[in-house]
Amino acid sequence: MMTQRTGPDVVRPPASPIVADWIQGLRPYEPGKPIEEVERELGVVGALKLASNENAWGSSPAALDAAMNALAKSHLYPDAACWSLREALATRLGIGMGELVIGNGSNELIGFLVRALVKPGQSVLSSAGSFIAYKLSTLAHGRRFVEAPLGADLGYDLDALVAAADATTKLVFIANPNNPTGTLLGRAALLRFFEALDRKCAGNPDGAPIVVMDEAYVEFIAPDRDDVAQGLELYRARPRVVLLRTFSKAYGLAALRVGYAVSEPAIADYLNRVRDPFNVSTVGQAAALAALKDEAWMRGTVAETLAERTRVSAALADLGLGVTPSQANFVLIDLGRDARGVNDLLMRRGIIARPMGPAGLPHHLRLTIGRPHDNDKALAALAAVLGG
Ligand SMILES: Cc1ncc(COP(=O)(O)O)c(C=O)c1O
Repeated sequence: MMTQRTGPDVVRPPASPIVADWIQGLRPYEPGKPIEEVERELGVVGALKLASNENAWGSSPAALDAAMNALAKSHLYPDAACWSLREALATRLGIGMGELVIGNGSNELIGFLVRALVKPGQSVLSSAGSFIAYKLSTLAHGRRFVEAPLGADLGYDLDALVAAADATTKLVFIANPNNPTGTLLGRAALLRFFEALDRKCAGNPDGAPIVVMDEAYVEFIAPDRDDVAQGLELYRARPRVVLLRTFSKAYGLAALRVGYAVSEPAIADYLNRVRDPFNVSTVGQAAALAALKDEAWMRGTVAETLAERTRVSAALADLGLGVTPSQANFVLIDLGRDARGVNDLLMRRGIIARPMGPAGLPHHLRLTIGRPHDNDKALAALAAVLGG
């Protein structure tokens, strides 16, 4: 029997005798192509990866030193409680250590939230055109994923989210800024959304849904932007908010896999019940702690990223391309044609970007902001591909 696709990441193959239907129907997450793979497959040299929103300036030297030193403890299991990192984060954020759970990347925490909180028959709600892991984690746990449409500006449409919420809604994921669109929701709109959601779901068997504010890109919000609500403020305003953050983006530690969740202690306790022991390596914990103390390094690279984001966005507009105004370390480009084909041609020129068909945006390409000369190369390659 032929496999039948029913969505970008769900397939309806024949039933399997060894796994549940929801596992049989999954397709693995498709990450940005590694540099080595592109160089090997296409015979290009010096490929440039602008596909996964990493920090193009690398990692803080202090974090790398801490990671190197931590390697000497490789024969010992890590601190399962991530005590020092949680202590430093609790002090920085002005919260209790019991409100913090550390994950092997924030991606792992997305899975914990679904696994711990969403019961059979309940559902997870987010927007189309958002981080694909929300959907994949939900489906991997055999739960129903409900997708509200994106707004006309390619941002979250909060009214559509409320309209899509129902008696089964248990978790709502909101990436703010959003990946892959780079859009940002303001404080007033989010507070209105909470009220409307709570009204609509007042009679839900488990009470109001838990809203997860995923702030993977929060450090990249322009400092002069008004009406910004950081998740921490929203968490204080509404207990059923969980905040997710990561060391993978602005802190430049994507390879070491460290993220964290802030939640009320009761929720943190449930997340800890599904957390594997020793989920965050000694090296990751040490590097994240040092990176946190070296805030100046992170702020410096963010400032350079923001300057480049402005320059690259203007250059793309000069090429006649649509660019969604971004508050993250990437830009979403409307190519007005199939982005996969353009992406293939870019890869032949050694530029690895990310076509956004899997997020339901087949004409859009996401490009991470790199260092100035990298961005120049990417812009020149794009101009050549589109012109040729
Ligand atoms: C919105 C968003 N959330 C979470 C993540 C996961 O990051 P990590 O698992 O590296 O912390 C990403 C990574 O791309 C992301 O874009």
